[in-house]
Amino acid sequence: EKQGFRHFMLKEIHEQPSVVRTCLEVYFNPDWQQKGTKPVNLNLSSELIDNLENIQIVACGTSWHASLVGKYLLEQIAEIPTFVQYASEYRYSPSPIMANTMTIGVTQSGETADTLAALGMERQRRSGLDKPYRPRIVGISNRPESTLGGMVDQLINTYAGIEIGVAATKTFVAQVMAFYVLALDLAWQRKTISPERIDQILAGLLQLPTQIEKILQTQEAKIEELAHNFPETRDFVFLGRGINFPIALEGALKLKEISYIHAEGYPAGEMKHGPIALLDAHVPVVAIAMGGSVYEKVISNAQEAKARDARLIGIVPQSYDDEVFHDILNVPEVEELLSPILAVIPLQLLSYYIASLRGLDVDQPRNLAKSVTVE
Ligand code: M6R
Repeated sequence: EKQGFRHFMLKEIHEQPSVVRTCLEVYFNPDWQQKGTKPVNLNLSSELIDNLENIQIVACGTSWHASLVGKYLLEQIAEIPTFVQYASEYRYSPSPIMANTMTIGVTQSGETADTLAALGMERQRRSGLDKPYRPRIVGISNRPESTLGGMVDQLINTYAGIEIGVAATKTFVAQVMAFYVLALDLAWQRKTISPERIDQILAGLLQLPTQIEKILQTQEAKIEELAHNFPETRDFVFLGRGINFPIALEGALKLKEISYIHAEGYPAGEMKHGPIALLDAHVPVVAIAMGGSVYEKVISNAQEAKARDARLIGIVPQSYDDEVFHDILNVPEVEELLSPILAVIPLQLLSYYIASLRGLDVDQPRNLAKSVTVE
């Protein structure tokens, strides 16, 4: 069932173009203007969206990272203040109850104990309150038949197909796609962006599957070779800013989980507030420099890391090859808003090849289970 791949994780990484394609087919209408329909097929009930003022998201692990990308999208496209919480924290120290709040639980398995408990707590403390404070609970999941599916008012299915590798890859990309769906739907309803801008984003989204394929075709062998440089490496740092800060976190988590190398993800601008003290020639730094508004800032943070002798690996759009990097992993050029989906692919491959060269059980890393059904 691995279809010729050595591990399920690698197979699932390679399934990502088709996962994105499925999401595009199910949820988007690129010709909506001609047809007089909606751009997004998401029928959230009016109980969920009327007078919506803010969104809070609860999740764990990789789903929490996807939620951070979601926050960026919901705030920047739909202009809705959004707060992302660790479910394990939120269930014991929830924020004061705000009015007209949508709560979203993001869990690919739909079975993560903390996420379910946080949502249950939220429903319970809001039930019986006046209308503006009533619970409005949405789920984003790859398993509509899960416990989560039975707990929420509405579920957004991510349609990634079953994921076997413990390290989430295709379900992460599918969750981020679900946030494009939600943010664009809300932006259209609230008219926070123009129809032309919606079309521009849709056109960009439609390119993603072939762009992911291109990364897989052109970068995989290079990444495998690069991985040979880190047999003894003990620490890695991942840097990103803006919409790609969560991708730095995700790159670090993937590496930790399957290679057992200590890795940290930071917003690049935070380096000088402490973590830069860690850097020397033994700590490789991966900088996500995807172009767009923060490109120059990331490059200058990368330069600071280089000055501490760190080996610098850049995740960089094709035409941006910057001399600051020792190693460059290229991704197709894409507008900043869509860049996380491409930036994460080389990071998944990098952690996969480092772990697999170390001879580790990539699909079943030690101490981890696919779904964490206990607290
Ligand atoms: O099933 P969930 O999305 O709720 O799982 C949440 C985390 O346990 C999960 O993302 C975990 O961090 C993965 N192993 C990451 O690769």
